[in-house]
Amino acid sequence: MSDPKVASDPKLASDPKLDKTMSATFASQRRKDDHIDLCHRGDVTLEGDRGLWSDLSLVHNAMPELHMSSMSLKTSLWGQTEIDAPLMLTGMTGGTEKATLVNRGLSQVCAHLNIPFGLGSQRIMTKDPSLVDSFKVRQYAPNVVLLSNIGVNQLREMGPEAAQRLCDEVESDALAIHLNPAMEFIQPGDEADRDFRGGYEAIRLAVKMIDRPVIVKECGCGLSPKVISRLIDQGVQFVDVSGVGGTSWVKLEALRATQDGEHSREARLGMLLADWGIPTAAAVMLASSLPVKVIASGGITNALEATKALALGADIVGMARPALQTFLDAFERHGEDHAIESTIEFLDELIYGMRSITALHGVTSHKQLRHLPRVIGPRLLAWRSIEHS
Ligand SMILES: Cc1cc2nc3c(=O)[nH]c(=O)nc-3n(C[C@H](O)[C@H](O)[C@H](O)COP(=O)(O)O)c2cc1C
Repeated sequence: MSDPKVASDPKLASDPKLDKTMSATFASQRRKDDHIDLCHRGDVTLEGDRGLWSDLSLVHNAMPELHMSSMSLKTSLWGQTEIDAPLMLTGMTGGTEKATLVNRGLSQVCAHLNIPFGLGSQRIMTKDPSLVDSFKVRQYAPNVVLLSNIGVNQLREMGPEAAQRLCDEVESDALAIHLNPAMEFIQPGDEADRDFRGGYEAIRLAVKMIDRPVIVKECGCGLSPKVISRLIDQGVQFVDVSGVGGTSWVKLEALRATQDGEHSREARLGMLLADWGIPTAAAVMLASSLPVKVIASGGITNALEATKALALGADIVGMARPALQTFLDAFERHGEDHAIESTIEFLDELIYGMRSITALHGVTSHKQLRHLPRVIGPRLLAWRSIEHS
């Protein structure tokens, strides 16, 4: 997508300082659109059950003894914020025309279902403040529970006051701070961060100074109990484990680093590490024993996986790519209104499944699932060995 400002204003384009900012913004925009396109159509997941969901069996109750009218999946995240189902769309995008369409559409989907919606990284706003509009969804979804998003490295560089301003500008309810060190090694040198120091301190300051809840999330490689424990020491009360099993950002960056079939060293490392990280089911199981609210994401594609995540102790379940694909497929067929309706139907069916599977345990709330017996297979059980490490 071309940058209209560079194209239309020759004076701006001839200032070398502005030129540099413009080209940095343009490169970021291209990256954002690449991410959307690859997540829509690219081969960015892994074969097989990488999330380890098949290693967990739930126990059927043939006599549920309940009426579905007494069933409630309502839950609260923080304070008085009540949502209608333990489900959210996690952060994806912003900063381009296509991203604007996605944020506008998916925020309305979430508002309709009364579930939270995550914006993608707002770093691009710091490069070009005019791109804020691509993140501003309040006019379309005034009451949606909205999450801002920034990477831990950018947070460290900008400090908590600037992060607070990013939240204020889009009127978000909470800030998600993303961690993605594995992906950084696969990105080309000029795009990637190589300094991973000072993250805990940056998060400690953010929790202390930002006037809304702070969630720390991975992006598909999982959070270990050791990292979560240290985050809790910084005051963090919410984590999104985002484990292995869904979108592999390492694989995605490896695909981007492969030009005309030529594999760079980053691309080769990306293919080697495509399934690097902690399977989502294991990450949820381990996180749930810690004093923190847990969002289970990374490869949640259906109601059974979602309900298994809740049974393992997740407070809510998160999804990114499957909702994006549903939205974009429908958009290409019949436009924006159809895309919104189709994505609502897709998520509604997911919630219907979660309600039904919860009922098949003989309980009226997903919150009771975690206290019921379940059968854990050897691959998932093996992860218990790092529980207190
Ligand atoms: C197109 C796309 C863009 C994403 N961009 C971001 C981002 O900017 N910030 C972030 O925290 N996570 C980002 N993610 C990661 C997701 O929030 C999620 O953690 C990850 O994709 C795993 O979930 P999934 O398997 O349901 O896709 C993005 C995901 C997608 C599909």
